[in-house]
Amino acid sequence: MEIIHVSAECYPVAKAGGLGDVVGALPKYQCQAGHIAKVVMPMYRTKFLYESEWTVDFKGQANLGNWFFDFTIIKESNNKLGFDLFLVDINGLLDRQKIYGYDDDAERFTAFQIAVLNWMNHWEHQPDIVHCHDHHTGLLPFMMQYCYDFGRLRNVPTVVTIHNGQYQGWMGWDKSRYIPRWDLWKRGMLDWADMINPLASAVKCASKVTTVSWSYLAELRSNANGLEKLFEYEQGKCVGILNGIDNEVWDPATDKYLVHHFSVKDVTAGKQKNKEELCRRFGFDSKKPLFVFIGRLVGEKAADVLPDAIRTSIFYSQGSASFLVLGSGETNVEWAFQQMKHEYEGIFNAVIGYDETLSHLMYAGADFLLMPSRVEPCGLNQMYAMRYGTVPVVRSTGGLQDTVTDMGDADGFGIRFNNASVEDIGYSIHRGTAVYSDAQQMKAMRTRMMQIDHSWESAMEAYQAVYSACLE
Ligand code: ADP
Ligand code: GLC
Repeated sequence: MEIIHVSAECYPVAKAGGLGDVVGALPKYQCQAGHIAKVVMPMYRTKFLYESEWTVDFKGQANLGNWFFDFTIIKESNNKLGFDLFLVDINGLLDRQKIYGYDDDAERFTAFQIAVLNWMNHWEHQPDIVHCHDHHTGLLPFMMQYCYDFGRLRNVPTVVTIHNGQYQGWMGWDKSRYIPRWDLWKRGMLDWADMINPLASAVKCASKVTTVSWSYLAELRSNANGLEKLFEYEQGKCVGILNGIDNEVWDPATDKYLVHHFSVKDVTAGKQKNKEELCRRFGFDSKKPLFVFIGRLVGEKAADVLPDAIRTSIFYSQGSASFLVLGSGETNVEWAFQQMKHEYEGIFNAVIGYDETLSHLMYAGADFLLMPSRVEPCGLNQMYAMRYGTVPVVRSTGGLQDTVTDMGDADGFGIRFNNASVEDIGYSIHRGTAVYSDAQQMKAMRTRMMQIDHSWESAMEAYQAVYSACLE
């Protein structure tokens, strides 16, 4: 089967979060299983671009409204990622340093999708499946079905995976002129609440829709940033498939970013060595339990509650635990953490920014990983933490609920709570600090979670079933 993944991110080419990890891994395992999986994404100015070799695959022209543009599709020459990788170069529009966050993101991703379709339209054959990821590629199912220029692709099934339903790519109807000649009767397939809504359009037009965990699929019917009714209506075509993790990249026995490798057999000693390195760098006492947070500092992740929750914990426990935060996002949260570095030297530290290397060392060296997310469609951090023997402390929601059990339950290994509040987070930190002094229980929990299989195997089979259902 030939599957074309279209995405804004793909690790290690360009990553802002878990979407990149998933699109960097799933196609690799699909190829290993005998399929032909390819990825096409925008060409940003990233390190990977300059460090790799490329050949020109296609040159074309298209238009976005009345702006004509040239585009080039380049292909990575050495199969570095284990699948064919194609980048779309649109001069001045896509070739920037960041993935998102520009005022013209609507134009950038619409032009990207138009270029992708123009390119596929020129192929001699047609792919079996076009697999779109999130709203940046959400106009593809509509355009494939209703734009006159792409009639050749009309019968190619589309699968849309929702990694995050909070962001939908809304644009005003004035931007409808960007979409190449289309059947005006189909306006309703683009519209939600008087806006063009690429995510809603994807859900309406795709052959199948998947979400990245089972619980998140159920949640979307009551919490989907305005699309609840749509998910209710379209539930027949929706399937929840829990993400896997790339066990080749995330393996404490081989991870190139760790100061000491370990496995389940020497987990206590192995983790301690990585912890000591972290404590040395950040000025902590390595005998105390170490809690970390890694992620975007945004409301979805409940990062706004963390400063107060950590402050309160430090106050009540009289500094018996250490805390390290890595992330960037909302300015007020970044600022609160910067302040706390000075207030609680030796107990709290924060790195504001993005640091892949440090994140790996933190998963390995920490005792506990905090994830109080208000919304978590899947969450990869908790699975990485588990593979590195770090106890996840999570709010019971979405994928966190599907992957973490509470240590109070039979064979449990994590800490779960219900509310993204100072009280619940504080109490969970207290539970963590208490269990930390029981070395036997810590070892048992670490051993249990490190043995859980989070590989892509079962997710791949589930995607396979979805693709097959589209082709029936
Ligand atoms: P989301 O995609 O919603 O941000 P996920 O849990 O799915 O959340 O994935 C987040 C990914 O991004 C993980 O690989 C995590 O390690 C990584 N990550 C997030 N923030 C940072 C950061 N500041 N530095 C390094 N890695 C980060
Ligand atoms: C999104 C979600 C996250 C998920 C990731 C990969 O960014 O917020 O929960 O793990 O996509 O699917």
